Amino acid sequence: MTSYRVPAERDPARPAADRPLTVVVDGEPVTGTAGQTIAGVLLGAGRREWRTTAPGGAPRGVFCGIGVCFDCLVEVNGLRDVRACLRRAQDGDVVTRQGGPGEDR
Ligand code: FES
Repeated sequence: MTSYRVPAERDPARPAADRPLTVVVDGEPVTGTAGQTIAGVLLGAGRREWRTTAPGGAPRGVFCGIGVCFDCLVEVNGLRDVRACLRRAQDGDVVTRQGGPGEDR
């Protein structure tokens, strides 16, 4: 079997250049790429935790990464309890840290 390299401009898996986006996280602009989840943007910016548990205030970020554990909850554009690992980031999103479900920070 012979492998060959597809030139980037003809690669069907990446038909267009990346489109940058910016979300505002706790008042600070964070850049990412269109198509990333909010968790992906946060992780790409070096953030590992963005929520605390209601009892004890333990830090949480991504645990399962597939929408099962709810560890990654954030407030997005005023809507609480959004799973950052499932919500695709949109340019201009305003993301705010929060505590556990129904809890303030
Ligand atoms: S990391 Fe588990 S639901 Fe998002």
